[in-house]
Amino acid sequence: MKRLRSLSSESPTLTAPYAREDLEHLLARFGSPLFLVDCNVLRERYRQLSEALPGVVLHYALKPLPQMAVVRTLAALGAHFDLATKGETALVKAAGISPDLCIHTHPIKTDSDIRDALRFGIRTFVVDNEDEIGKFVKHRTRVELLLRLSFRNPEAASDLSRKFGCEEADVPRLLDLAARLGIKVCGFSFHVGSQVPNAQMHAKAIQVCAPLLAQGRASGQHPLRVLDIGGGFPTYLDTSEGEKIGDFCAPIREALKVLPADIRVIAEPGRFLVASSATALTTIVGRAERQGRRWYYLDDGVYGTFSGQVWDTTQYPIQSLNTEGPFYPSTLTGPTCDSIDLIREDIHLPELEIGDVLMATAIGAYTTACASDFNFVPRARIVAVNTDFAEAD
Ligand SMILES: Cc1ncc(COP(=O)(O)O)c(C=O)c1O
Repeated sequence: MKRLRSLSSESPTLTAPYAREDLEHLLARFGSPLFLVDCNVLRERYRQLSEALPGVVLHYALKPLPQMAVVRTLAALGAHFDLATKGETALVKAAGISPDLCIHTHPIKTDSDIRDALRFGIRTFVVDNEDEIGKFVKHRTRVELLLRLSFRNPEAASDLSRKFGCEEADVPRLLDLAARLGIKVCGFSFHVGSQVPNAQMHAKAIQVCAPLLAQGRASGQHPLRVLDIGGGFPTYLDTSEGEKIGDFCAPIREALKVLPADIRVIAEPGRFLVASSATALTTIVGRAERQGRRWYYLDDGVYGTFSGQVWDTTQYPIQSLNTEGPFYPSTLTGPTCDSIDLIREDIHLPELEIGDVLMATAIGAYTTACASDFNFVPRARIVAVNTDFAEAD
């Protein structure tokens, strides 16, 4: 559990955008590299998405930033949770979250994953094929299933429907199978892909699911009453996300109007809630002149916090705390011996020294969560700031 430890009892208070002295103070206190999670930003993002999707229950998908401080901060606002693994289950359990607020959304699970989630008290699971439905026969009196549909989306940064979800044509067969096995299906789910440029596919998926819900209800086969519209809500790496998410969600709000009022609509947002909450601080540990360029070697890199550059194909805004002097095209690399560990080429920076600090912003989603211990390079220390709970974990 060490990686998941929050430092809430030591949580400093910061006002964003952060003053250089405050950041230097934090580095002196906690060391470098440092990954700051700002709970004020989490609160603001949760508020923005709640306003953009009125009436939709938000289940935070833990995967982009599985941190205790994030879970506690969102729980205090009334968030529900979307879990996919034993580790995520352990984290929400340790945070004291009620299992009634959680759903398990991994479409492919081992029996041991299922037993673990059931022991915690989760009752709602996602499936997308016959084998997965079959895994619930022995638990049929204790569970309800969401049937996940696939909606391929080439515009998504990560087209999750390539890997998961049944076809619309499979739905009657899978509903029949579940009914024959005595397993209740309570609704449908989908994920139209992560970081999508617009909500057209969300709207289309709702339009496909609405008649499926109506037909299924009419048949009386299953107690269909939930539509899970997944995640995918994008982050724009700038400060106007609040306005943009309202516009982004307009087609979703419109599409949801066709659903009967007693359908419970839920969503599984991940990156939108956490991306802009985090700031990474990394220190120059070495430098060199190569091919006429300034090269800076940092204590964090693409095997660490900047892993999102590889796994999430995202380039994070980077700046130097020292902003004085003429700027030169420079190269930033990470601390490992691998040549892939290159953070940025052609970034314009002042002349920097060993010990100077660089700051990357909007780096909260799929970054530390995907980092590795390659070369035994220590990961960035994670510090939650602006928490509103006092106890340590
Ligand atoms: C099942 C599921 N739900 C939610 C999410 C979160 O998606 P996003 O970060 O795009 O909101 C993911 C991401 O992989 C997922 O697989």
